[in-house]
Amino acid sequence: MFDKLNNPREVFGHKLGSALTMEQKVLEMLGDLEDGSQRDELKQQFRHHADETRQQIANIEQAFRELGEEPDDSPCPAIKGLEADAKADIKMADDSVIDDVILAGAAATEHHEIAVYETLITHAEELGEPNVVQLLQQNLEQEQHTLEEVTRAQREIVHQVVTAA
Ligand SMILES: [Fe+2]
Repeated sequence: MFDKLNNPREVFGHKLGSALTMEQKVLEMLGDLEDGSQRDELKQQFRHHADETRQQIANIEQAFRELGEEPDDSPCPAIKGLEADAKADIKMADDSVIDDVILAGAAATEHHEIAVYETLITHAEELGEPNVVQLLQQNLEQEQHTLEEVTRAQREIVHQVVTAA
């Protein structure tokens, strides 16, 4: 873990370690979201993204190897905040809107992950690490695709509930 960040390479190493911590937490969260969601298609979507997340963790670990560094265990307070936010909302939610609330948490998380990968890719490009760019690009594309699916599912669910009322 870094005490102080002195140059872009250290910023990159720190943020890459933080992304690893983030994905490990996301993997836990996806299990909780799968258990908590009511619709089978959502459970299936979360299971699929959990498989992708395992691959994303492996990609980040591989990125550290490409850099010749040990995986850094920088903390990721942002993901803890997103988890706390989602959990608090789920607690407040009536059964009829549980899936809607779960998808709101998933969308916020995906947006955060996309921001993290965009920053990492910018650094890896400018630091001249094309193999690392490629690994991170795979993760970014999975997050972008997941966000699209989450948004589509949310639209369908809100529409169903509103039109049934
Ligand atoms: Fe992810």
